[in-house]
Amino acid sequence: MAKTNSDIASSFVRLFPESQNFLIVRSPGRINIIGEHTDYNEGFVLPAAIDKAAYMAMSLRDDDELRLVALDMNESFSIKLADLKPIGDINWPNYILGSAAQFIKRGVKLPGFNAVLTSDVPMGAGLSSSAAVECATVFALNELLQTGLDRLTMVQMAQKAEHEYAGVMCGIMDQFASMMGKKDYVIKLDCSSLEYEYVPFKLEGIKVLLLNTNVKHSLASSEYNTRRKECETAVEWVREHVQGVNSLRNVTEEMLDSYVLPKDKLIDKRSRFVVQEIERLVQGCKDLQRDDLGALGQKMFATQDGLSKMYGVSCKELDWLVDNVRNNANVIGARMMGGGFGGCTINLVKEDAIDEIVASLKPTYEKEMNLPLTWYVASIENGTEIIA
Ligand code: GLA
Repeated sequence: MAKTNSDIASSFVRLFPESQNFLIVRSPGRINIIGEHTDYNEGFVLPAAIDKAAYMAMSLRDDDELRLVALDMNESFSIKLADLKPIGDINWPNYILGSAAQFIKRGVKLPGFNAVLTSDVPMGAGLSSSAAVECATVFALNELLQTGLDRLTMVQMAQKAEHEYAGVMCGIMDQFASMMGKKDYVIKLDCSSLEYEYVPFKLEGIKVLLLNTNVKHSLASSEYNTRRKECETAVEWVREHVQGVNSLRNVTEEMLDSYVLPKDKLIDKRSRFVVQEIERLVQGCKDLQRDDLGALGQKMFATQDGLSKMYGVSCKELDWLVDNVRNNANVIGARMMGGGFGGCTINLVKEDAIDEIVASLKPTYEKEMNLPLTWYVASIENGTEIIA
């Protein structure tokens, strides 16, 4: 896989020798410490951009062709601008096409372009490999076309690309983290006002260990959209009785007791998780600010229980990985991360115990689940940037 500037640059020159002016953008994947499935409910999230990223080299063309190459998959795709629409089957072009389409929707006269993509964000691992590609595309086009868009606008365009071309009605967290990340800080983002604050996250002797179940989250997009609807239903039922309620952000557990639980137990469970999770994040940030990592870690375990038993987005492999570190003194907190149904768990662990933790889990996980267990230590890095 081509990961460095020079690798992607030489591939670009080989594939598009006629293109003189090209740039290379790096756009990272993300982690999220706590606050899951809260973004589309107008709650808070606490994500950060990481050292794994998508890299895109791009140049404009004189005609109306889009020529796209994914180096890691050894695949290419071309389309004329006049035919721009979501494509079936192959996924990766949709993220680029969907992002380009946002410029046209804004009235920008988009020419054709060449784009070469490579990424070391593992796909389907809950690290937002797709948001990384969307943000890279929007950022590169903004630069080449000199459209002067601010980062927040670009975040929203990348999110729309996911809605319209990938069909996942995602919240704003992934694209926001990829675009706005800052080295050694997590972002406390209020998904209602879009106000945000960088919270320091350089912890002495503590690392973020990601354990990848290697379960590909095939259920994720359909179930994701279903969860969103379940939350909207709860909001509608509360709104029939309480004024000014637009999202679960404004809903309390007492309101659920009165207006949702009597109507439907499942909708109650789903929405109650979200109401609790929004509050858990607010308290978890306070833990972080007063250096009480132990308390934050316990909240991460509580999030896992909620995601698994109330929100119904975990799977046996994710549950296994969290249950098997719960009583490990070297693991401060752990939970599944992202949309769910597979992907990674995020673990806050003592740095010098990482090898031991992985060595104790790997053989049993692989035997019991019949899947490989892979792992990464994530460092927190800057968001989308031009690197050449
Ligand atoms: C996916 C979505 C995000 C967010 C998470 C769950 O990653 O893209 O917007 O909803 O799931 O927290």
